[in-house]
Amino acid sequence: MRKILITGATGQIGSDLTPALQRRYGNDNVIASGRKTRPTSTMLAAGPFEFVDVRNFQALDKIVRKYQIDTIFHLASILSAAGEARPQHAWDVNTNGLYNVLELGRLHGCAIFFPSSIGAFGPSTPPDNTPQETIQRPRTIYGISKLSGELLCDYYHIRFGVDTRGLRFPGLISHETLPGGGTTDYAVEIFYAALRDRKYCCFLRRGTFLDMMYLKDAIRAAIELMEAKPDQLIHRNAYNVTAMSFAPENLAAEIKKMIPDFTMSYKVDPIRQAIADSWPNKMDDSAARLEWGWRPQYDLPAMSRDMIAKLSRKMEDLYGTDET
Ligand code: SER
Repeated sequence: MRKILITGATGQIGSDLTPALQRRYGNDNVIASGRKTRPTSTMLAAGPFEFVDVRNFQALDKIVRKYQIDTIFHLASILSAAGEARPQHAWDVNTNGLYNVLELGRLHGCAIFFPSSIGAFGPSTPPDNTPQETIQRPRTIYGISKLSGELLCDYYHIRFGVDTRGLRFPGLISHETLPGGGTTDYAVEIFYAALRDRKYCCFLRRGTFLDMMYLKDAIRAAIELMEAKPDQLIHRNAYNVTAMSFAPENLAAEIKKMIPDFTMSYKVDPIRQAIADSWPNKMDDSAARLEWGWRPQYDLPAMSRDMIAKLSRKMEDLYGTDET
């Protein structure tokens, strides 16, 4: 039975990954942790929670010893747009946090999951059917930290035998917790705005195609990769994984099928547009499919239907219905 530590457990991925791992491995075997965001009462009641800054090696080491951790899902990270606002801070958290976690892997024999991103690519990367192995010259501090993370994970496996594994996630869409400071955040915000205001002003331009994935698929991908037999894995780290590729107008059209009076306007944010323009339109994820059987379950229509259904319920619980 695994004993798992999750860093960044209160973030967008962690809020869904934590309960999924608790269901699979038992609540007491999953230790959630975060730096400053208070966990929800549900997360606090479900299992152990520790406040820890991933830049503090001693504090992390104490937790790993206390719970005899053997697997770390290292999710704590500053996203792309937030990273451009505070580049030094983003480098510090993303790079030193991962370094500390890898050192724990080396010293205590922990397996490590590291989420890389489409952000690890750059403007000179082939944008269509972006290969697993290709040119990577990212232009954001987020992307640079993710690319160096990919290399560091490879290094710790080859040099020290640490069981590192990882995925290059596309933009993630979820109804539980909002992403914070990402370039792909529009694809989550749009659902809240459509249900609440029947309109949304998009910060990316029409025609900006990006890879995306429903969080349920992303959670399953992380768990399946960590449970794959080691001899199946040729690449191990930084697998391209994707589920759909769309531009803002495609998502708006899908939402309009369910909310006919929904309208979308555009006010382009030049910083996030430049970031999105430097990322692939659509990745080739055949290495993940071949090596450990990756298959997405949610395409654009299925994801949109589920988001609308889940968020409508959530909003009713929060604000009640209009009917008396
Ligand atoms: N969703 C992330 C971002 O937009 C990319 O991995 O920063």
